[in-house]
Amino acid sequence: MRLAGKVCVVTGAASGIGRASAALFAREGAKVIATDIDETGVNGLCDELTGDGAEALALRIDVTSASDCETMIRTAEETFGRLDILFNNARILHPDDGDPVETPEETWDLTMNVNVRGMFLGCKHGIPALLRAGGGVIINTSSISALLGSGNAQTAYTASKGAILAMTREIAVAYAKRNIRVNALCPGPLRTELLMKSLDTEEKKQRRLVHLPMGRFGEVEEVAKAAPFLASDDSSFVNASAFMVDGGVAGAYITAF
Ligand SMILES: NC(=O)c1ccc[n+]([C@@H]2O[C@H](COP(=O)([O-])OP(=O)(O)OC[C@H]3O[C@@H](n4cnc5c(N)ncnc54)[C@H](O)[C@@H]3O)[C@@H](O)[C@H]2O)c1
Repeated sequence: MRLAGKVCVVTGAASGIGRASAALFAREGAKVIATDIDETGVNGLCDELTGDGAEALALRIDVTSASDCETMIRTAEETFGRLDILFNNARILHPDDGDPVETPEETWDLTMNVNVRGMFLGCKHGIPALLRAGGGVIINTSSISALLGSGNAQTAYTASKGAILAMTREIAVAYAKRNIRVNALCPGPLRTELLMKSLDTEEKKQRRLVHLPMGRFGEVEEVAKAAPFLASDDSSFVNASAFMVDGGVAGAYITAF
């Protein structure tokens, strides 16, 4: 088990990548604080993890709240004695997020608040705890859209993911000599309910698939599997990276095969 005895905090753990990663962390021996604004979701996850014999605790945390983020980290230390891994993963992708002309200012502010400020607050409160533990790991979920346009005109979301990548590099270099590694996980397009709902005709689906070198969307679990790698000593020399799990989308500007 690669994470035996490690204590990790996951934000946005009620669904998708966060939920799947929290389960993999537990399977690798970590003690998990699963947090989300969706309390029912994290409670359900925790019941599953503890039912399987893992040590886990669910917390309702809004990452935009400094006091919630402080509570999240304090609870990890009070409950399990330390913090080793912080997975900043919560996000919002607002339905009103479009091109700058049509996007309401409130949508911009909310997106930046959850996606960027939330990760900043996680780091602000998490880093002192990681230092108290003698070092540790931070994973910030960015996106392939931080590197390539999504083609969808999701201005606020794409900008927020770019900011996360830039912030990740900054923090990684600042703390590299103090035994904290910080990486951005950059997933490509995944076969989620949200995406499948938006691709509601065969034509729309095919228009997307033609840009994917592997000819398919990724699965949530395929991205989640990168999290224990980035969190463990298996990735001991991986730092400040944009760690892409994208099926090769970023590898070409055109798919000719
Ligand atoms: N799904 C994809 O195709 C894809 C692609 C690239 C990047 N990503 C990134 O991966 C990460 C996870 O994506 P997902 O598809 O699993 O998302 P998801 O929507 O399934 O999960 C996000 C979670 O964040 C929580 N959340 C929202 N606002 C919050 C707040 N203020 N405080 C705390 N929690 C809050 C939600 O309740 C939800 O459980 C995100 O950062 C996303 O941007 C996803």
